[in-house]
Amino acid sequence: MTDADALDTDGLTRREALKAAVAVGGAAGLAACVDRLDGAEPIPAGDGPNAHPERQFGWNEHVPTDDAGNWVLPRHQTLLYLDSPGDGPPSAADRDAVSGALAGLDEAFEWSNEGLLHSAAYSPSYFERFDEPLAVPDDVSLPQPTPLADYETPDFDTQDVLVHLASDRPDALLQAEQALLGEADEANGVPIPASLTDALEVDARRTGFIGAGLPRERADELAGVPDPNPVPEASPLFMGFAAGFRRNQSTEDAVAIGEGPFADGTTKSVGNWRQRLDDWYGEQDFDEQVMEMFSPGHAAEGLVEGVGTNLGDDSGIDRFLDAVVDDAREYGRVGHAQKAARANRDADGNPILLRRHFESADDDIASLHFPSLQRSIDQFEAVRRAMNGVDATEATPAVRQRVNNGILEYIFVRHRGYFLVPPRSLRALPTPSGDDG
Ligand code: HEM
Repeated sequence: MTDADALDTDGLTRREALKAAVAVGGAAGLAACVDRLDGAEPIPAGDGPNAHPERQFGWNEHVPTDDAGNWVLPRHQTLLYLDSPGDGPPSAADRDAVSGALAGLDEAFEWSNEGLLHSAAYSPSYFERFDEPLAVPDDVSLPQPTPLADYETPDFDTQDVLVHLASDRPDALLQAEQALLGEADEANGVPIPASLTDALEVDARRTGFIGAGLPRERADELAGVPDPNPVPEASPLFMGFAAGFRRNQSTEDAVAIGEGPFADGTTKSVGNWRQRLDDWYGEQDFDEQVMEMFSPGHAAEGLVEGVGTNLGDDSGIDRFLDAVVDDAREYGRVGHAQKAARANRDADGNPILLRRHFESADDDIASLHFPSLQRSIDQFEAVRRAMNGVDATEATPAVRQRVNNGILEYIFVRHRGYFLVPPRSLRALPTPSGDDG
């Protein structure tokens, strides 16, 4: 038993308590958290904004890697969706407040999984507050979000601003959030000169987690999870498999906007997907899960052991991209990764999307927050549409719109929003031209 697994007097493991603290948030969450962290290592302080990367999404060099070299994302994450009051552009005072709040975080926390990684991103609705067009190159699109299958009915996140916080330290996450929301004027012992709420209003707060052990632990508390709990202890995700193998991910360089004032920015799509774990685990055996998550070829060749970490740094999906229609006819099923990956390769065969998804137990529902970074939103839309597997449904009646068609029978999109992540120097309420407001 590790320290984190030791039971406290109220019967929670320390790990459970810390995660619950992030989900609760605010002063109550922080108090719970600080109690449990008595004697924990200090949170490393930052070097100020200018020492942190110009790319707000420059996270990969600042998180650990696993044995196979895959990036390991911070275990605790929070998404804050905020609106600018009124109809017009924000004021210079608003910009100063947001700038001060974010710069404060960079003073307070090391830019790493042990301190805090964060980014501020802006929606198309935000940029519509201004008269000028968004100064991005022709190969960058930032449309309003839209359904990407006939049956999708998500709520669209059209709030102005999305702030994403991520850390292995729940106490860092909570302190950062308290400072941003004006509930504290310091974080990690460092004064924070302004808060986001000096300029913006919070519309939604969503939380999540990723990493071996956490989904199994949380599944116990959620509606619709079979008893006994079927989520493997080793799985970083609710559906029982590892994801985000390094060679199936884009690089930060490739998703970066190349020129203009927003160079070293990127676009970010964030979906929230409810998962029907009772059916996923109840209706299928392991081989069927492998077929639907990866590809029928992965099951036929026995490529996936357990949660799939044996795959190393590459899911091996590239061999099966041309087999979708044949697999549909032969096995009556097609794979999620197999379908999506078809639209996820550039001319040189490299992945286009940098997926950074994590799980959530918000509202006591198992869901997945799916942030994806790519140079242009139309690239995300093409990959999501490829997941529809229309050619597989046309090849055989066994594969239908949402039946035997990857994991579509088990996941339901609840929210979708599109955002521009500016470079750090323009991260505080930018104008569309990148000029001072
Ligand atoms: C609950 C929902 C989801 C789960 C559990 C999930 C899980 C996985 C897993 C296990 C893989 C194979 C390993 C890997 O390459 O990472 C994969 C691949 C992939 N997923 Fe998902 N996924 C989900 C939703 C989505 C959504 C909504 C998209 C939207 C575009 C997506 C895009 C992709 C892509 C593009 C790949 C293939 C990567 C490649 O090009 O090789 N996934 N996913």
